[in-house]
Amino acid sequence: MEKIVVGNLKMNLTELDVEKYLEIINKEDFNDIKLFIAPSYIYLEKFKSDKYNLTAQNVSLFYDGAYTGEISASQLNSIGVKSVIIGHSERRNLFNEDSNIINEKIKKSLSNNLNVILCVGENEKEDIDIVKKNIINELKEDLKDISDVENIIVAYEPVYAISSDNSADLEDIKNVVDGIKNYLFATYNKNINVIYGGSVNENNIEDIVDICDGVIVGKMSLNAENFVNLINKIK
Ligand code: PGA
Repeated sequence: MEKIVVGNLKMNLTELDVEKYLEIINKEDFNDIKLFIAPSYIYLEKFKSDKYNLTAQNVSLFYDGAYTGEISASQLNSIGVKSVIIGHSERRNLFNEDSNIINEKIKKSLSNNLNVILCVGENEKEDIDIVKKNIINELKEDLKDISDVENIIVAYEPVYAISSDNSADLEDIKNVVDGIKNYLFATYNKNINVIYGGSVNENNIEDIVDICDGVIVGKMSLNAENFVNLINKIK
């Protein structure tokens, strides 16, 4: 099965950096990889390509109207955005997004034909059975009243591992990923893709994609050459 790679550029790159980034990325061929690239909103148009899924890093929880500074799911869809990252720990922790907000964002996105990359993960390292239980409870809240989960990818991202240079233990990743997959299968009778994020790099990506459906990458996606080398490891 094609592995998923999501590049989450976060609030990085200025216009000139983007031009250089795209020069490198657009030369490449990503056959056999399901690639998603999530630049800042202002660069979405520049990143349009049929080589990968154009992805937004955020979306409004509202449909439309007087919400200064917000971008709606229908606006994203109207310019060709295919997917959106929701529930990233930086949004949960720095912008106080709780499961009600995340649930609304998912509903608005799905109803506007956007695929959702839903991030979940523990803040601190703790007993892995507790982690699994808490994540499943979180998923129940995030996905409340949503029955159509086909277009959702779940990204397991232990927060302590993000941009830390140390990914989580492989055994723990496998344990949690399998737990999420089993829960979603038992609940929706569907095989949902579950990917891992948190300090994915050239040394660990092969082992990680062996135990899940792909990866979400922050730091190692910021430099186009590094990102291409990383992807080439699993092509
Ligand atoms: P990282 O970020 O690859 O820098 O750990 C992952 C993420 O935040 O999605």
